[in-house]
Amino acid sequence: MPAISYLECSRCRQHVSADTPQTVCPACAGTLYVRYDLESLKKIAQRPGPDAVPSMWRYADLLPEVVPVTLGEGWTPLLPSRRHPGLLIKEEANNPTGSFKARGMSAAVSMARHYGLKKLAAPSAGNAASALAAYAAAAGIEAHIFMPRDVPMANYLEGEVYGAHVTLVDGLISDCGRIVAERKASEGWFDVSSLKEPFRVEGKKTMGYELVEQLGWTYPDAVFYPTGGGVGLIGMWKAFEEMEELGWVSGRRPKMIAVQASGCAPVSRAWKEGATASKTFENPATFAAGLRVPKPYGDTIILDIVRESGGTVLDLPDEEILASLLDWARHEGLFLCPEGATATAAYDRLIQSGFLKPEDKVVLFNTGSGLKYIDAIADAMHLRRPATKQYPRRTPVGGIITPQ
Ligand SMILES: Cc1ncc(COP(=O)(O)O)c(C=O)c1O
Ligand SMILES: [Zn+2]
Repeated sequence: MPAISYLECSRCRQHVSADTPQTVCPACAGTLYVRYDLESLKKIAQRPGPDAVPSMWRYADLLPEVVPVTLGEGWTPLLPSRRHPGLLIKEEANNPTGSFKARGMSAAVSMARHYGLKKLAAPSAGNAASALAAYAAAAGIEAHIFMPRDVPMANYLEGEVYGAHVTLVDGLISDCGRIVAERKASEGWFDVSSLKEPFRVEGKKTMGYELVEQLGWTYPDAVFYPTGGGVGLIGMWKAFEEMEELGWVSGRRPKMIAVQASGCAPVSRAWKEGATASKTFENPATFAAGLRVPKPYGDTIILDIVRESGGTVLDLPDEEILASLLDWARHEGLFLCPEGATATAAYDRLIQSGFLKPEDKVVLFNTGSGLKYIDAIADAMHLRRPATKQYPRRTPVGGIITPQ
């Protein structure tokens, strides 16, 4: 594992030492990126071979020098679609706590333990809170998590089960963020909000390393990413930059396609307006809970990356997301999370519009398991569990009696 050379501000490029815990750039509040001496690393860093650990820590040569807090995150399967010849699903449901948020929290909590931090806090749309709760428990660190009251039940339950301090807030993730910001100094919390500390991006960047490795060290034509805060998209772009500097991959980088729900589409709106930053999206509402981020902190970085990559941003209404979720469950055997189904719905749209061709090699992130959303999906389907007496019963010889 390499020593960190310095942290670099994504906006003003100021360098900050990583010897002590850092949040954002002290000069301009920009997100800090972890930088290594890639010139020297080039001589020693190895592409992982067949014996590398089957987790994101297989890229330890490009992650901070730290003893990892690991629950087996990353190295998730890349599953070919049964119907679309060019389409591969990066199945992040297989992560601890059932979502890709495990990657970022494994890295952030590892560094927190390394720095000797005792209390971590985060606002969350849901899955980040679950992951923080699990990794903090594994590290013996306190987790203080703040989520909207109407977060999927699984996220609330996980927080409680893992022993975190859970607060449900009557409001949005932005309100949760405000509470953390107001109380962190007096409570002694270290804030691990998306893009307000440097290491969640480091964990999430491993998605970029993995997809390139799984494609035989080549780039796909496009990557679909359900975008709330955009941490994964930003992390993958960093991974591509690093891999090119190391000589691990070359060629044209993928078109980055950021997908949002129409009920909360600040980045998509900014994209349509040709703006360089988003405006707060008022009254956001979607069952794709992870996409309910009304004003992502990294909006400008997301828009820059999409533009540079030749990609696009689009948003889909909940009905189309649900239809795609059911389509994939019934025809491919995958129970996508609503955020992942936003991406599959977007894929269909971009094939229809001709932006992509069916033979284009596309990696699409299913960022979590549909099983984490049983309440939200059942609601969206207007599904209620039938009363017990309506269940079919089996006769002693295995036939079925349909109740009257
Ligand atoms: C399942 C799922 N997908 C996507 C996202 C959005 O992730 P990001 O903040 O990296 O854009 C979230 C965020 O909570 C999520 O839980
Ligand atoms: Zn700065």
